Amino acid sequence: MSDKAWGGRFEEEIDDVALRFSESVSFDHRLYREDIEGSVAHVRMLASRGIIPAADAEKIEAGLGQVKKEIEAGEFEWDVHKEDVHMNIEARLTANIGDAGGRLHTGRSRNDQVATDMRLWVRRACHETSKAVEGLVAVLSVRAAGTVDVLMPGYTHLQRAQPVRLAHHLLAWAEMLLRDRGRLEDAARRLNECPLGAGALAATTFPIDREATAAALGFDRPTRNSLDTVADRDFLVEFVAALANCAVHLSRIAEELVLWSSQEYGFVRMSDAFTTGSSMMPQKKNPDMAELVRGKTGRVVGDLVTLLVMLKGLPLAYNRDMQEDKPPVFDAFDTVTDSLAVLTGAIATARFGVDAMRAALATGFLDATEVADYLVTKGVPFRDAHHVAGRLVARAVTDAKTLSELPLDVYREEHAAFDDDVYGALDMETAVERRDVAGGPKRARVEAAIAELRERLTGFSVDIETIARAHGAEERP
Ligand code: ARG
Repeated sequence: MSDKAWGGRFEEEIDDVALRFSESVSFDHRLYREDIEGSVAHVRMLASRGIIPAADAEKIEAGLGQVKKEIEAGEFEWDVHKEDVHMNIEARLTANIGDAGGRLHTGRSRNDQVATDMRLWVRRACHETSKAVEGLVAVLSVRAAGTVDVLMPGYTHLQRAQPVRLAHHLLAWAEMLLRDRGRLEDAARRLNECPLGAGALAATTFPIDREATAAALGFDRPTRNSLDTVADRDFLVEFVAALANCAVHLSRIAEELVLWSSQEYGFVRMSDAFTTGSSMMPQKKNPDMAELVRGKTGRVVGDLVTLLVMLKGLPLAYNRDMQEDKPPVFDAFDTVTDSLAVLTGAIATARFGVDAMRAALATGFLDATEVADYLVTKGVPFRDAHHVAGRLVARAVTDAKTLSELPLDVYREEHAAFDDDVYGALDMETAVERRDVAGGPKRARVEAAIAELRERLTGFSVDIETIARAHGAEERP
């Protein structure tokens, strides 16, 4: 490279403010591994096509290996004057191996290079996030296995609604997360095309072999249009959208943990390792980790918006705006993987408040639906039965009684079809056990759901026992 970073066309150095404003190496150095991986594939292809001498290609490959070592040993000096990760690495390579380094960039532009780096990085990040999601789901499967016996109120509108099993609730969280996993894997599959060869925007005059570089980097095929290739950042939007969805799920789970750990609920006690105290109030044990997971979700949603707004209105093909893709992508990934790690540990070690859950079932008329369903079994149309049950709830409220405490003559006053056996229908365990429907809370259904979940995880090569042990998750409430 010439002494002026941009070569022959330039006579003046870049302005200091412009340099600080435009450099990206302070954040895109995270792409060094992918950048080197892509360069090795490119240089091998150049040699195999006779575009550069084989001896130079060998020097370049060895030199790139050396640069990688320097970076990983923390000896590499990233230089903002060389703007980005690509030019930093190329400059160091040439400094190390001499003129041969100058041949690396033949038939390539930073535009197809950075698109390749990002696809490689995001592909890896999708799989890493997927694995982290699987870890949390594995922990949930273990906690679910230990809480099949625990009955708790299920809620709608945050009002006690109908009884369910705690395991059923934990399995609902697992479903949310496995959809996120699916979206991450979808994103990884769709992005798996290789940009190398698109050049700056109009490909290259050299007889390159795009199939070869695509295959060498584990891509399914080269991308199909050179303009689109250097302009496309959909794959980042998809990745960050999947992360935002996941972050929203984690936030909703975290919110339940916050509620549950309040004295008003008493449904969960988070372990000391995932709570903090108050600097003023000695009695406090705050669910800060769950609150922070909830709070950090805003960043991830913001990252998605940042990307979408950055892309909106960009003409083909590459525009420098696109350099702004990296901070939100890295931030979304870091935030979600950290949140997953924290929640995995927190949920693995939490203790559930079985007694508080049972006590909460006693008030709130969670058996009102059972009264209505009971009448339906006696031949009453559901709408009428619903009305009668509502009147009984109103009477119970007035008399400060539960539905089980109302005498049979009160039931009879509201409808002649009531008999002594109505009290049997009011038992919470019975209420749950009668919900013998696929996806329902009956014990056998929940046990089958846990078995099926374990099978799905095994299908993803997840070692549930090892993960449970690593996080201290046990099959108990
Ligand atoms: N640092 C740049 C980015 O991330 C690399 C591509 C630069 N291309 C260009 N034509 N200036 O977008």
